[in-house]
Amino acid sequence: MTKVSQPHENQHEPKHRHPEREHDLHRNPHDLPDYLQRLEGSEREAWQKPDEVVSELGLRPGNVAAEAGAGPGYFSLRLARAVGPEGHVFAADVEPRMLEALCERLVAARIGNVTPVLSLAGDPLLPPSSCDLALIVNSFHHFPDGKGYLRRLQRALKPGGRIVNIDFFEGELAVGPSPEHKLSRDAFLRMATEAGLALESEKTFLPYQYFLILRPR
Ligand SMILES: C[S@@+](CC[C@H](N)C(=O)[O-])C[C@H]1O[C@@H](n2cnc3c(N)ncnc32)[C@H](O)[C@@H]1O
Repeated sequence: MTKVSQPHENQHEPKHRHPEREHDLHRNPHDLPDYLQRLEGSEREAWQKPDEVVSELGLRPGNVAAEAGAGPGYFSLRLARAVGPEGHVFAADVEPRMLEALCERLVAARIGNVTPVLSLAGDPLLPPSSCDLALIVNSFHHFPDGKGYLRRLQRALKPGGRIVNIDFFEGELAVGPSPEHKLSRDAFLRMATEAGLALESEKTFLPYQYFLILRPR
């Protein structure tokens, strides 16, 4: 398969390089400007289909949404527009440099309904019972304690709230992390079930990612 320019972590590192030395503790590459360009670049749109994704989330004006592992806000800014000025978004990330980039983008886009949240690796640190929806995109495979994280994320949901996880399919793909860093759909679902979540529905229009909508049981 032909590899297109990488929107995510580096894969297929040349043999003389040492990828583990080129990433921080949370697997973000040290070359942040290059990484931000890959996360936010326009070539991502063709396969990420961000507008379709956000439309499938069914958010309404006035809703409160969170993004865990928000990065520089590719989805958080779109969530902010979907919930409108009466709504709110918590954009949580463990990496201060990501939140700095997010803040710059919020100012440039004149978006005032997003609160950046500096999280712990194992806890998004979101206000309890505050969110209609918590979204995770291409990030869950980074979380060191996935099951514990999902338990803590559930506490941030309002009654009836949902968690959505979108992450890369297993195996070698044209985009995304190398196979050993991924978490398969089935492995994620097992973890989510153990964390007390049930699969409500699944969307299948993304070419490289599973898209799972879950609710607390
Ligand atoms: C591949 S980026 C995805 C960013 C964004 N969701 C997107 O779709 O563009 C992964 C993000 O997860 C964050 N991250 C890694 N480990 C994390 C953790 N334990 N808790 C919260 N965020 C984490 C990284 O700092 C990075 O911003």
